[in-house]
Amino acid sequence: MKDILLTGDRPTGPLHLGHYVGSLKNRVALQNTGKYEQYVMIADIQALTDNANDPQKIRNNLLEVTLDYLAAGLQPDKTTMFIQSHIPALFELPMFYANLVTMSRLERNPTVKNEIKLRGFERNLPVGFMTYPISQAADITAFKAKYVPVGDDQLPMLEQAREIVSAFNRTYNCDVLVEPQAILPENSECSRLVGTDGNAKMSKSLGNCIYLRDDEKTVKQKIMSMYTDPEHINVSDPGHTEGNTVFAYLDAFSTPESFSAYTTEYANLEEMKEHYRRGGLGDMKCKKLLNSIMQDILRPIRERREEYAKDKGYLLDMLAQGVDKANERATQTLDEVRAAIGVDYLKNRDFFLK
Ligand code: TRP
Repeated sequence: MKDILLTGDRPTGPLHLGHYVGSLKNRVALQNTGKYEQYVMIADIQALTDNANDPQKIRNNLLEVTLDYLAAGLQPDKTTMFIQSHIPALFELPMFYANLVTMSRLERNPTVKNEIKLRGFERNLPVGFMTYPISQAADITAFKAKYVPVGDDQLPMLEQAREIVSAFNRTYNCDVLVEPQAILPENSECSRLVGTDGNAKMSKSLGNCIYLRDDEKTVKQKIMSMYTDPEHINVSDPGHTEGNTVFAYLDAFSTPESFSAYTTEYANLEEMKEHYRRGGLGDMKCKKLLNSIMQDILRPIRERREEYAKDKGYLLDMLAQGVDKANERATQTLDEVRAAIGVDYLKNRDFFLK
């Protein structure tokens, strides 16, 4: 049997470059190895945990995210794409898991803490939001996923999921659930792509994203107005490459081939960075190089997206098939979970009749 891979995205907006380098690119590469059984989930229920009063937003983004998946290179014959809210097992499992997790453990979850800060929740935190790590553990374990390709912001979620797995297997003396492991991107710039304004995270609410669906002009504009080094005023001034968004993106997206294709001056990024630090290299030139690199990456994605966008019916059919397949898997795990706890009374009549 192949190892199972699962990830998901909240459909609160179209996907951006942070999603792409943080996980999507990895998923496509892993899909293409043919070595795994891969599931990719549109996490609409998780999106509701902090958007309960705006379900319209989630609905509007369902096909946007689906298009981003296909545009990035996920293929329905190799990756099962499905919708979280259509898999009942994903709501049943958290109810069983919740009894194995303490309040104080949830309160310590750094991702949740961070998001509470970002969203301005204090004591008004919805209970559903507080417990979403439990729901996420259900997403992963329902499929017995061994690997989860994510950015490093999701590591606390995986830690939580592993704890639930071991508590479950220990408490019910079984080996039904599988401990998941993260697959992280190749470097830390990819794992946590900064926003175009230099903010620590690319996020829709901060308005600092480059979306996979942005057109050529928009991408260029966003790159040209990127945050760089405020102390690098004249071209001749020495500059900082650390904390400089343009260089963070070059770290995340450039390859040695980008340098042979677009510059004659530098053999690689390190040489270019040295020039910038010494002084004499202007921001504009760096941004132009970045723009060429980004356009090359985004062009084929955008073209595929436009093609797929012509047939919404196809997208819905594909999701329906994904939902069927995902339900089969998840229901089977749920059955095993119920049997392990012993709440399978009506399926296990012998216990009562013997
Ligand atoms: N929390 C993830 C995010 O915000 C989305 C998600 C939901 C997920 N369920 C998952 C990721 C299961 C990996 C595995 O992007």
